[in-house]
Amino acid sequence: MKSDLKNILLSEEEIQQRCKQLGEQITKDYQDKDLVCVGILKGSVMFMADLIKHIDTHLAIDFMDVSSYHGGTESTGEVQILKDLGSSIEGKDILIIEDILETGTTLKSITEFLKARKVNSLEIVTLLDKPNRRKAEIEAKYVGEKIPDEFVVGYGLDYGEHYRNLPYIGTLKEEIYTK
Ligand code: IMP
Ligand code: MG
Repeated sequence: MKSDLKNILLSEEEIQQRCKQLGEQITKDYQDKDLVCVGILKGSVMFMADLIKHIDTHLAIDFMDVSSYHGGTESTGEVQILKDLGSSIEGKDILIIEDILETGTTLKSITEFLKARKVNSLEIVTLLDKPNRRKAEIEAKYVGEKIPDEFVVGYGLDYGEHYRNLPYIGTLKEEIYTK
């Protein structure tokens, strides 16, 4: 599997360092809040697990599953809710945890969907941000790393459901896409 990679963009150490920095910032910002961390399945799972270890305040976790990609490398622009939250978020301080913010289509739909539930606040933390690809008007308050417009895999991010289990983030060799 590792031989499918062209290069490594973020090493395990760099990812862990970002998780620690983001966690410390979030800890400061959410001391007196009623925090619910909402992970967007499936890509955010690794990031969420590492990030919340560095958030030193009371919090609850929940998950949402949406589909926008249908297995390729380009977003279709359509977002479908596959799994909704397990409990009410009225009055809560929601922190959406996402692996990557690209066109913003996915997060724009999710934030509108959740804000309608009378939350006290709603912010986004994303490990990766591709600002050059943005189409929807949306930004994350907390960003691990801004990256160029390249398709990346690993640490939760997939290509056709594969590579999520890599402990770091990298780009795939051209021949993998053209197979
Ligand atoms: P957006 O709606 O275009 O912002 O896309 C966000 C979603 O697309 C993310 O949650 C990922 O699942 C997926 N995605 C975007 N860019 C990449 C990438 O480079 N590698 C893997 N998945 C990606
Ligand atoms: Mg995703």
